[in-house]
Amino acid sequence: MKALIIYDSVYGNTEQIAKAIGKGITGDVSVVKVGQVDPAGTGQVDLLVVGSPTLGGRPTEAIQSLLSRLPDASVKGVKVGAFDTRYAGRLVKVFGFAADKIAESLISKGGVPALPAAPFYVTGKKGPLKEGELERASAWAKNLLP
Ligand SMILES: Cc1cc2nc3c(=O)[nH]c(=O)nc-3n(C[C@H](O)[C@H](O)[C@H](O)COP(=O)(O)O)c2cc1C
Repeated sequence: MKALIIYDSVYGNTEQIAKAIGKGITGDVSVVKVGQVDPAGTGQVDLLVVGSPTLGGRPTEAIQSLLSRLPDASVKGVKVGAFDTRYAGRLVKVFGFAADKIAESLISKGGVPALPAAPFYVTGKKGPLKEGELERASAWAKNLLP
């Protein structure tokens, strides 16, 4: 099983979650930051997971750009997963969240959702992660592939 996890992170919270997700998957797993991957060259994978911080209700510019440049051919029929990190405050809900937008984009390219998009929480606007989120990320990852 080949898995590719692509993430972006400004303050490091999403990076920690991405690495925990990587540890939760068995097989040939790559965890790469968005700038280090050529969207046209992701190759054939069994599982593609994309994650971003939620900034202003959306994924980062780099993740939005990656999603728009990922060829349909490298997503179609592939199992996909989406996650984000977010601040659990009440006011932010109106803007929406990164993970839902990532999932929507991957599914529109023909990706097959392995699990519903997953939120992971920070306790302040720039972090840190809420206690237990790394363990929850690994547990989520274990259910992505049968
Ligand atoms: C400028 C800014 C805007 C943010 N916007 C949102 C938002 O719209 N919704 C939300 O839930 N969290 C928001 N957050 C919280 C971030 O999603 C959270 O800190 C995230 O874990 C950062 O990820 P990173 O450490 O990987 O960069 C915002 C944080 C900052 C600094």
